[in-house]
Amino acid sequence: MTLTGRHTSYWIDSTLPSSYPALSQDVTVDVAVIGAGLAGVMTAKLLKQAGKTVALIEADRIGQGASGHTTAKVSALQQLIYADLIDQHGNEKARLYGESNQAAIARLAELVAAEGIDCNFERKANYTFATDSDGLQQIKDELEAAQSLGLPATFVEHVDLPLAVTGAIRLPDQAQFHPRKFMLAVAATLPGDGSHVFEQTRVDSVKDEGPGRVITQNGPTVIAQDVVVTTNLPILDIGLYFAKSYPQRSYLVGGYIEANRAPQDMYIGVGTGYRSLRTTPTDDGRLLLLVGGEGHKVGKDDATDERYQRLEDYMRGQFGVEPAYRWSSQDFKSFDQLPYIGKLTPAHQHTYVATGFSLWGMTKSVIAAMVLSDSILGRENPWADLYDATRPTPFVTTTSIQQNLDVGSHWVGDRFKGLFDSADGVAPGAGKLVTHKGSKVAAYRDDSGQLHTVSAVCPHLGCIVAWNQAEKSWDCPCHGSRFDTEGKILHGPTVKPLEQKTCD
Ligand SMILES: Cc1cc2nc3c(=O)[nH]c(=O)nc-3n(C[C@H](O)[C@H](O)[C@H](O)COP(=O)(O)OP(=O)(O)OC[C@H]3O[C@@H](n4cnc5c(N)ncnc54)[C@H](O)[C@@H]3O)c2cc1C
Ligand code: FES
Repeated sequence: MTLTGRHTSYWIDSTLPSSYPALSQDVTVDVAVIGAGLAGVMTAKLLKQAGKTVALIEADRIGQGASGHTTAKVSALQQLIYADLIDQHGNEKARLYGESNQAAIARLAELVAAEGIDCNFERKANYTFATDSDGLQQIKDELEAAQSLGLPATFVEHVDLPLAVTGAIRLPDQAQFHPRKFMLAVAATLPGDGSHVFEQTRVDSVKDEGPGRVITQNGPTVIAQDVVVTTNLPILDIGLYFAKSYPQRSYLVGGYIEANRAPQDMYIGVGTGYRSLRTTPTDDGRLLLLVGGEGHKVGKDDATDERYQRLEDYMRGQFGVEPAYRWSSQDFKSFDQLPYIGKLTPAHQHTYVATGFSLWGMTKSVIAAMVLSDSILGRENPWADLYDATRPTPFVTTTSIQQNLDVGSHWVGDRFKGLFDSADGVAPGAGKLVTHKGSKVAAYRDDSGQLHTVSAVCPHLGCIVAWNQAEKSWDCPCHGSRFDTEGKILHGPTVKPLEQKTCD
């Protein structure tokens, strides 16, 4: 298979590397924020603006997790959600959801304007479109739901795309931006006056001892009155957020398009095989078209390179554009469609989480920052109850039962994978589960023929990892931890790498 695009996120490729220091001695602040994606950066920013001292602590580099691999549409129109929200939660909660997402766009726009942040922030309309009659019915139901909640959505018959559509919902005055330019610019305003940004500092655990103690793998500790965990899925197992959500991977390709042929706004289709579309201006004056889609549960597909191939084929076929970039990432879908934002558990008065953004985390990161900063500052927030992280968990929905049964079947069934296979059968460029002296080993052979072997047992809760061909990584199908072929952590919730193993 020949993939054309360079295998890196455009957002990361088009920004300079950051170089904040690692934590090297104990530090005391008002609030420690763990994880520097959009949720962490925004939460730290609002707290510092309100006069708190903060320490933003990142295991890797700022904005290189999901927030550095996103499509970065900032919108309250999230494909299809409002009809479902009304069914599941009733009108008032669905209304608050729409209101909070619209408020998040306004808050982001206000910050960009007030601080003159250069991040290609642009107001755009966002569309959800259908290409067949079933999709059209879904669009009409969604439109009716969105309008009933007071959102200024309208129906349109045509969109600015080279596709035959049967109809679309249009929500005006939404936004798009360059997420990493934004996160780097905001992070740069944090250090000083008792506040800090630390990179290359992996947090191991948090002790809520009032004040909280954030234990890092570097050795030193951050002591803070309040601790906010924004690690995409919390690294803390207390609160069972790993069992209240499931990890979904999704893919993007990008290619340069001539301005006169480029779509003007943001778009997403409905149904299986849907595509998500937007453009972004680049620093050399060109326009990059982004096409996303091909989502699936983490660890459930090893032929992931075919997903990139289908997106590249679509970009060429529909737009005549040659792919220049390709990348993928993941986010955690909550079982009741609402993110979990608030206290870790009812017993934790000073430890907070934000997770379950369900692939619409640009607005939800800002909502998390508003809700959590208000809570820490002792202020009322109109959306705190809606997103309360400790709300009764919907363990008995069809999705939650299915997902938790799926985890159970992986935990048991995957132990039999590769039972009779040895590392000799691993082809160059491929990864495979093998068994060596009774242990389950994840074996990868690089193109030069050298074998790289690590334990196949995920250090989070003991599931068996699966091979991801497109990313050349080992991905855990249970709660989404990911590792490179040397066992190094690529994505949490794990805080430990895969153990080294040999096949000698
Ligand atoms: C392909 C794709 C397209 C998407 N498109 C859109 C879109 O168009 N619009 C939209 O609204 N949403 C979109 N989303 C969803 C959105 O990108 C995410 O919801 C959002 O970026 C999540 O932000 P976060 O801050 O929770 O996580 P992240 O950005 O992943 O940040 C978490 C950070 O925590 C750090 N961390 C982890 N463990 C530790 C530890 N132990 N110690 C210290 N730090 C740690 C990580 O290194 C990381 O930097 C998309 C998602 C994907 C995957
Ligand atoms: S991520 Fe939980 S067991 Fe692997």
